[in-house]
Amino acid sequence: MIRSDIDLQPFNTMTIAARADYFAEATSLEELRVALDFAREKQLPILPLGGGSNIVLTGDFPGLALHVALKGLKLEDLGNQTQITAAAGENWHQLVMHTVAEGLGGLENLALIPGNIGASPIQNIGAYGVELKDSFHSLTAMEIESGALVEFSAEECRFGYRDSIFKQDARDRYLICEVRLRLPHQWAPQVSYPALQQYFAANSVAEDTLKPQDVAAAVIAIRNSKLPNPVQIPNAGSFFKNPVVDDAQYTQLRQQHPQLVAFAAGEGWKLAAGWLIDQAGWRGFEREGVGVHSQQALVLINPGHCCGSKVVALAMEIAADVKAKFGVDLEPEPRFYPGV
Ligand code: FAD
Ligand code: EPU
Repeated sequence: MIRSDIDLQPFNTMTIAARADYFAEATSLEELRVALDFAREKQLPILPLGGGSNIVLTGDFPGLALHVALKGLKLEDLGNQTQITAAAGENWHQLVMHTVAEGLGGLENLALIPGNIGASPIQNIGAYGVELKDSFHSLTAMEIESGALVEFSAEECRFGYRDSIFKQDARDRYLICEVRLRLPHQWAPQVSYPALQQYFAANSVAEDTLKPQDVAAAVIAIRNSKLPNPVQIPNAGSFFKNPVVDDAQYTQLRQQHPQLVAFAAGEGWKLAAGWLIDQAGWRGFEREGVGVHSQQALVLINPGHCCGSKVVALAMEIAADVKAKFGVDLEPEPRFYPGV
């Protein structure tokens, strides 16, 4: 099952061509263990792969790219809530559409996020006022070093904004195999996000008539209006996280830029990185096959199927410009392999 010298271009939505020394697709826990044994014996680093929609390949990967393709989906009625048990290789959006078709609410704001279940806890995926953590119950992961299965509760995952333990202390230590979500049967739509409010007002939809399916349809329409479909225009979604600044920096920025788009976030303020990049003049910019999406400046695009170093060079240029113009640091959201 282990192949050598494989092109990873079909396995990342940025369509970056880069080779992995070894590649394996695992459809069972046993195959995952075989792949891990092989990597351990050869002392290879591992690149776990789902849908490849949140990675940037900065060069060839000197290790084992491991496509986690475990399948299986189960819905169980627990009385006042439904438990969903989904294997890592199931597609996220298909799961969302399956739940809303069953009349279950809770995941509809997360419709159309590309990628697989296995990656969803890594950065605690979020959109339109909802995050994975809001319906997450627990997960099972395989420890890379030992092959042992380990359970993580929601608390143990230490979810944050685009963050979890799997990007911090547990980075590169686990393969997520199965995720369990719980959707309470009592449901109220989460439609406070400005874009959703505008959508329902424009379409004369009364909020008290909404079903999960209606919210999913609205989210899909809004996303299609500004986010590029990776099948047509290669991209990895938001290239940077929205930066959080303290009150003093926010007040100063607001004085200098009264139109600044920002949202209260705990003790600080979350700035719209797309607005900063847009104001810095980058929206629609394109150079030698890489660029900035014309409808959403936070999304870098790679229509020329260029190498990762070109994408990273543009990202660094943009971040340096935003720093110079606004004094704000931008942190990339996707993970870079093998790193920069
Ligand atoms: P991959 O890109 O394959 O992997 C991402 C990371 O997770 C890598 O570090 C990888 O090694 C690791 N990983 C993957 N699977 C496993 C596993 N089984 N075990 C351990 N580690 C694993 N994200 C949002 O949060 N909100 C959005 O609204 C959103 N919109 C997007 C829109 C577009 C057009 C695109 C292209 C991306 C968007 N994203 C968004 C980012 C992306 O869809 C999510 O991060 C998604 O969860 C990535 O899933 P994936 O299977 O493609 O992960
Ligand atoms: N904006 C501009 N110009 C731009 C882009 C945005 O002025 O070119 C302004 C918008 O007008 C809006 C604000 O910035 O007022 C925020 O924009 P948007 O609603 O599109 O959301 P975002 O903050 O850019 C975040 C997530 C997305 C998620 C959406 C919806 C991050 C890093 N990104 O984007 O997630 O889908 O909100 O909730 O948090 C991803 O993570 O890959 C991703 C796409």
